[in-house]
Amino acid sequence: MVAKPVILCVDDEKIILESLKAELRREFAADFDVETASSGEAALTLAKELLYDGTNLMMVISDQNMPGMKGSDLLAQIKSLSPDTHTVLLTGYTDLDAVRDAVNLAGLFRYLSKPWKFDELGFTIRQASRDHAHQHRIREQKTRIRSLTDSMIYALEAANQQSDEDTYSHIHRVSLYSAALAKAHGQEDLWVERIALYSQLHDIGKVGVACQLLHGPEYFTDREIELQKQHVYYGHLILSADGIDEMAANIARYHHERWDGTGYLQALKGEAIPLEARIVALADVFDALTTPRSYRKPLSFSAAFDELLTLSGTAFDPKLVEIFRSLRREFESIHGSVRTDAPQLAGSSFNRDQPATSKG
Ligand SMILES: [Fe+2]
Ligand SMILES: [Fe+2]
Repeated sequence: MVAKPVILCVDDEKIILESLKAELRREFAADFDVETASSGEAALTLAKELLYDGTNLMMVISDQNMPGMKGSDLLAQIKSLSPDTHTVLLTGYTDLDAVRDAVNLAGLFRYLSKPWKFDELGFTIRQASRDHAHQHRIREQKTRIRSLTDSMIYALEAANQQSDEDTYSHIHRVSLYSAALAKAHGQEDLWVERIALYSQLHDIGKVGVACQLLHGPEYFTDREIELQKQHVYYGHLILSADGIDEMAANIARYHHERWDGTGYLQALKGEAIPLEARIVALADVFDALTTPRSYRKPLSFSAAFDELLTLSGTAFDPKLVEIFRSLRREFESIHGSVRTDAPQLAGSSFNRDQPATSKG
């Protein structure tokens, strides 16, 4: 049986604590377990134990005015231990400073004045519970997506083993560059989070062509060049499964399209290319320019930066290139912080993530 979420009640006055517990049990016994503590210190110890055991600590309701640790301090500490826990402060008098502290430091969900009206408290709990369940679902979903993405990245790394590209650092930088561009473009936080995650899968389709390429990128036959372009098709196919965010498939499918319509495979033009793919295309090419390959030396950061600026309106969305220009420092620090291992000698390899100036 799955343990119920817990509401922890904290008050130094025994009578109040008992009546709070009794009211909550009467009303919510089916949905929650109710725990109590008679001081901030005891509550903190108990909360740590519960969280350590994996208990879902849905809510902490605390009196403000207690000897020792104050309610607002307790709730602030609870919030830093467990950001998803909803905190409610009970104040016996109008203690505005405490409420202000609790709101600012403890991300207070509600404050109720003592004596509380049970309707109000009940309403607060039901509302918090809905909110909590929603957050819980989102977190679970994120964890699932994260681990799915990680396994795909492992698969890609395995497929790329023969290549001279350091897959891990490449996708890490592409993810950071893409997120920086998306943020500066004014996309909301969740969108930025999604592109940071899914940009890591832009080349996942390479697992579909890896075994068909016999030569290193510097010796690709014409057929192999055409074949490796198909990685965008395979990537799209892999990521088009039900339940996978459409953004992931768009990035895989369109990250080699060019603003002027001369990219592959669809030859889409301008804003017909989804924004996420336009962003990742820029990040990907910039990173390729600065990365050593067995068949060419990398450009310096400055040279790559200037080179990319010349591709505005041809390879890339001019608006994004302007944003890129404004992010020079940020790109420089990402470039410096995620290092690439020196390339190995070219073996059998398919992995030529060509600069936008070439079409191979
Ligand atoms: Fe690619
Ligand atoms: Fe790439």
